[in-house]
Amino acid sequence: MPKAQNKKKEYISIATNNHFNIIDILLLDHSYLKDCIDILQIEGGDKKNKYKCAKSFLDALKKHSAGEKKALYAPLEDLKELKFQVLEKEIEHGIIDTKVKVLSKKLMGSKSLTIEMDAELHVLASLVERHVEDEEQLLFPLMKKVIEKEILNQMGYQFMVFRQFTEKDLADTDLKEEIPNIKKSESANRNFIQTTHEYFSSTR
Ligand SMILES: [Fe+2]
Ligand SMILES: [Fe+2]
Repeated sequence: MPKAQNKKKEYISIATNNHFNIIDILLLDHSYLKDCIDILQIEGGDKKNKYKCAKSFLDALKKHSAGEKKALYAPLEDLKELKFQVLEKEIEHGIIDTKVKVLSKKLMGSKSLTIEMDAELHVLASLVERHVEDEEQLLFPLMKKVIEKEILNQMGYQFMVFRQFTEKDLADTDLKEEIPNIKKSESANRNFIQTTHEYFSSTR
């Protein structure tokens, strides 16, 4: 099959597949972050368990944030209905990313959780909890209202590409079958940037 036709086929199969809806995929990723937040917010709590949980939380949060910035917030910057919310959330992502970097370094340099790290993780967990709640309760309903399903599906596929999900991350979902495709999805990236930019600019 000629290359252009192949690309068109790939584009259609992504755009029409509702399993890729970015809102559902983000909710799935949030549920993992929330499980970690619950553990990190227990005052006192088992230090060993918290240390282990902190490592997975920081790793998942780093990838979630990178994926969201590229697949969610960058395209939404063009949408005037969401301008303020998007800017606010991008600023929060900047604060979260800095904190994740600092804490990951501290955790790597220590075999156990110090009381200072415990407190810092508690603060970060609370910030992420509020950030995620805002996304779910304010941003996602607005997105459902103003963005077409086909675009939400493409954004979700792209989120999976940028988020670098592993088989383990998606073990209990149908999406795990997509991992090999996600890994070789460069052309979808190029199509995505072009299509979403055209779509969101036309809504101005
Ligand atoms: Fe976010
Ligand atoms: Fe999020």
